[in-house]
Amino acid sequence: MKPVQPRLRFAVMALLGSLPLFGGMAHAESSHSGPEIARQDWTFSGFTGQYDQAQLQRGFQIYQQVCAACHGLKRVRFRNLAEPGGPQFPEESVKALAKAWPYQISGELDDQGNPIDRLPGLPDPIIGPYKNDVQARAAQNGALPPDLSLIVKARNVEQPSHWYSQWLLMLRDIAIGYQEGGADYLYALLTGYHEAPADVKVGEGMYYNVAFPGHQLAMPPPISADAFVDYQPEAGIKGSLDQNARDVTAFLAWAGDPHLDARKRLGWQVMLYLLITTILLYLVKRKIWSRIKH
Ligand code: HEC
Repeated sequence: MKPVQPRLRFAVMALLGSLPLFGGMAHAESSHSGPEIARQDWTFSGFTGQYDQAQLQRGFQIYQQVCAACHGLKRVRFRNLAEPGGPQFPEESVKALAKAWPYQISGELDDQGNPIDRLPGLPDPIIGPYKNDVQARAAQNGALPPDLSLIVKARNVEQPSHWYSQWLLMLRDIAIGYQEGGADYLYALLTGYHEAPADVKVGEGMYYNVAFPGHQLAMPPPISADAFVDYQPEAGIKGSLDQNARDVTAFLAWAGDPHLDARKRLGWQVMLYLLITTILLYLVKRKIWSRIKH
């Protein structure tokens, strides 16, 4: 029995001592494989974060003026833009926006059974320029611009690390309530267009981007340091590549998770309710058992 103890102690010390190393190694490795995607400060992050309505409104402006030239947003309906928890534009201006949308709803029939195109209204989806994927690819050099409704949910940030430290990072993210990987990726993508390194050959019709897996994609930089959207003076905020990217990312995060504000609020109410119930049950238990000697 005796000789085992020092050995056990050594093993435990060695394990504890090497824990910080895991993090260090994971970090060193990540600079080689996969792009480094920084975490951003979002108003809607963590357990209590909520959307910033003014930011969602600015973000929609960027989507409308830039992204809608190639991407649809078909799971969002015009009326959603006027609902609470989102950009909440006045309903009248959303109605006008739908009527002036550059793309028409097609595939419906008139009284005679002939296919027609019509202007969208409040209940219609926000569609992009292409009627189907074949048309989209034909116009975009073979590449398919994905619908952006769920893009923030569909992407995440991979944290390259060893299998034995992966679960520690996962536990940390659960503890801090981190779930903004998709938004961090999208922001990094929009601000990630750079000159390609000398040893990388960029394919024809492709663009170099540090955040995109594989680093080459067919989307030309939609916003850049010299071509960005400026906001109305009333917005009280200046347009820039960084600001545009942040705002449109927040807007697309809302598009993919429109009930986040209400969900988090309800979550806290439930926690409070459970806390009060627990205290009451504890007091009742003490009262009932106080009459019994034990
Ligand atoms: C000129 C057309 C065009 C415009 C404008 C445009 N995109 Fe794209 N986008 C594309 C194409 C084409 C692809 C597919 C790229 C590929 O597969 O290589 C794409 C792909 C994407 C992707 C998917 C990247 C991935 O991880 O797979 C995202 C996200 C995206 N675009 C966001 C945006 C946003 C946000 C805007 C507006 C700020 C925008 N795009 C404006 C053409 C465009």
